Amino acid sequence: MGRVFNFSAGPAMLPLEVLEQVQKELLDYHGSGMSVMEMSHRGKVFDGIIKEAEKDFRELVGVPDNYSVLFLQGGGWTQFAEVPMNLTKNGTAAYIITGNWAKNAAKEAERYTKVVRVASSEDQNYSYIPDCSDLDIPDDADYVYICENNTIYGTEYFELPNTKGHELVADVSSCFLSRPIDVNRYGLFYGGVQKNVGPAGVTIVVVRNDLVRDDLPDYVPKMLRYQTQVEKNSLFNTPPAFGIYVCGLVFKWIKAQGGLAAMDQINREKAKIFYDALDESKLFQGTVRREDRSLMNAPFVTGDPDLDAAFVKEAEAEGLVSLKGHRSVGGMRASMYNAMPVEGIQKLVSFMQEFEAKHRV
Ligand SMILES: Cc1ncc(COP(=O)(O)O)c(C=O)c1O
Repeated sequence: MGRVFNFSAGPAMLPLEVLEQVQKELLDYHGSGMSVMEMSHRGKVFDGIIKEAEKDFRELVGVPDNYSVLFLQGGGWTQFAEVPMNLTKNGTAAYIITGNWAKNAAKEAERYTKVVRVASSEDQNYSYIPDCSDLDIPDDADYVYICENNTIYGTEYFELPNTKGHELVADVSSCFLSRPIDVNRYGLFYGGVQKNVGPAGVTIVVVRNDLVRDDLPDYVPKMLRYQTQVEKNSLFNTPPAFGIYVCGLVFKWIKAQGGLAAMDQINREKAKIFYDALDESKLFQGTVRREDRSLMNAPFVTGDPDLDAAFVKEAEAEGLVSLKGHRSVGGMRASMYNAMPVEGIQKLVSFMQEFEAKHRV
């Protein structure tokens, strides 16, 4: 089998052009006589790679000078702890619970701060984004935390919460670089790169510099202090060098597509093709309130687990893989990150129509 359309929620597809460039440069990176995997992170060549990656990221996202960009390890789960460890001052934080990842983050934060859950969509299996225009946020909340795109449940914030002057912290793991973002609205945002941006192993954190402090409690490990990483430009210890290099290539690829505005347009086009087909179908149903449907992750079901399983199996034989839904929702989930071509969605939609014609009673 050649390359497939991979609808996995992550790790997910990378742009083919990027993989081909990695292949071309794998054994001898730019005349260095070695692979990026083999070179010292303290050497001149890698210094050029990480600096250029940061420069391209800043340009792409429009990161103002008073924010730091960090290339870290440990994934989302480490940030679930690192955020409260670093941002707790008053000892209270507000969390909006829109799915497993926000729930996990809140639970992890409780080790370090008092957590107040100011809104939740648990009452309807996280199938919508709660109204966040007038939340009861504690006056002393150090920050308001959201998971901006809910990978499992397929909901996405299209309007950020009114934080009433409190810092906004967002997990953007599954919508990273998928659309323009106004960095000034956030105190901090972070994402594991393994969905939209690169290979697993890199976490990018963007943090406003006045939130980077040196007066943290002694228990906070040196490695998990933003200040340590800011001071050393993400080179405090050995970084995930090869992953950072690949992320850098993806940044250039997105720039070549026309940047985040162009990415947004393509992603909206893909989502429209998919959701229009879903709305027309008599066999498949979406599981999310229409206005909150994620552009990145689309869960859908037939209502019959055996039919769902048959769909996933038959789709795989057509080169449409990893469509099985998360167990919390069941059915199917199509993840359509930046690197998923429009043709992948068209092929999925055609296959859904064929399947429906065969199985509709
Ligand atoms: C939105 C979101 N946040 C956090 C995580 C957890 O990330 P990690 O596996 O990198 O710790 C995931 C994983 O899929 C996710 O989708």
